[in-house]
Amino acid sequence: MKKSTVIFSVVILLLLSAIGVGVWATLNNRQTQPFLNKQTSDQAKTYTLSEVARHASKDDCWAIISDDVYDLTEFINRHPGGDEILRACGTDATTLFNSRQTQDGQWVGSGTPHSQAAMEQLAKLKIGTVNKN
Ligand code: HEM
Repeated sequence: MKKSTVIFSVVILLLLSAIGVGVWATLNNRQTQPFLNKQTSDQAKTYTLSEVARHASKDDCWAIISDDVYDLTEFINRHPGGDEILRACGTDATTLFNSRQTQDGQWVGSGTPHSQAAMEQLAKLKIGTVNKN
């Protein structure tokens, strides 16, 4: 085989590898970046109780559930339990969400815990964690 043919083949192989790595990196980035960004920002942000309390209306509704902070606003109109969810706005709604009962034991709707589907829906609305200091 001619020396020039060998050099040409090696150059082509190197070029193809570089293109391959480039395509792989681009695809990989596209899939993992949004997920990673969300995870990082979710973990990084903390809110005080009084900050959460300022978001206490139907148009702007935040709630604390098990020390995590959620923006429920866009979910309110889709809530299968209707406006009962508004009780959570601006408060620590842990008991209310977990048991569908008020702090003093009154049933809201069925008075049973929310389903697994509700937990999954909730997870999508997380914006941070609570800072109790
Ligand atoms: C914390 C205040 C909330 C109250 C008082 C409340 C109350 C209710 C009520 C009364 C129902 C009707 C069914 C029943 O009576 O068992 C219901 C259903 C439901 N709620 Fe809520 N809710 C609250 C927050 C939330 C949140 C934050 C989510 C999710 C983001 C959610 C998701 C659902 C779903 C998916 C259902 C359908 C039944 C089920 O999967 O358990 N709710 N809720």
